[in-house]
Amino acid sequence: MKVIVTKNAKELANEALKVMLEVVKSNPSAIIGLATGSSPIGLYKSMIADHLENGTSYADIKTVNLDEYVGIDESNDQSYIYFMKDNLFNHININLDNTNLPCGKVDDMQAECDSYTSLLNSMPQDIQLLGIGANGHIGFNEPGTAFDSTTHIVELEEGTRLDNARFFASLDDVPKYAITMGIANITNAKKVLVVANGANKAKAVYEMVKGEVSESCPASVLRDHKDVVLVIDEDAASML
Ligand code: F6R
Repeated sequence: MKVIVTKNAKELANEALKVMLEVVKSNPSAIIGLATGSSPIGLYKSMIADHLENGTSYADIKTVNLDEYVGIDESNDQSYIYFMKDNLFNHININLDNTNLPCGKVDDMQAECDSYTSLLNSMPQDIQLLGIGANGHIGFNEPGTAFDSTTHIVELEEGTRLDNARFFASLDDVPKYAITMGIANITNAKKVLVVANGANKAKAVYEMVKGEVSESCPASVLRDHKDVVLVIDEDAASML
């Protein structure tokens, strides 16, 4: 695992951008796995700025996203599809038909899980971007999730709901369930880029980089992956 410790948010976004552009430029029709939450926002801003300034094209890029809340759809500004359009897709020249997220509002959620896994099998990620939860989750794979899991429905831990409540009007509005790529779908990516900042991520970062490889810290699975780049700030690196 390559670990890059950066001094501030700008440097973190720049370092992550370099990793992302290496993939996008070497393969203009690459499949990139994307994440939501606060961690990737700086990178997405840098991708947009680079697209506008340097003309990096996403015309043939395909994307798959990690996860989506269950029970809310695109019209809800807290849905992950809304987030992706708002923070990235609407500002680069990507074809929305080439973007994929699991759907959180269908009658048969198991069928949605199965079809998302089939989609991922047919389009393995050239790079997968990840944030990390304070409890070490990746995607919405909470501690205890099997390393061989594929797309599934998860009941969100209380701590994860509390962490995410900052984006909602109240804790009650935070969905209780999510649909997420499984850990096997994530580690299937050729390359993994993890971004994390802030002291509240320090323990999870430590567990991922130096702790035991164990399902009690889902991110620790990445230690067995052959190509992982971790870009963090000094606060997130403080326990390393
Ligand atoms: C987002 C996702 C989550 C987040 C994680 C960190 O698609 O799957 O694993 O990456 O919860 O969230 P932030 O970046 O908001 O701290």
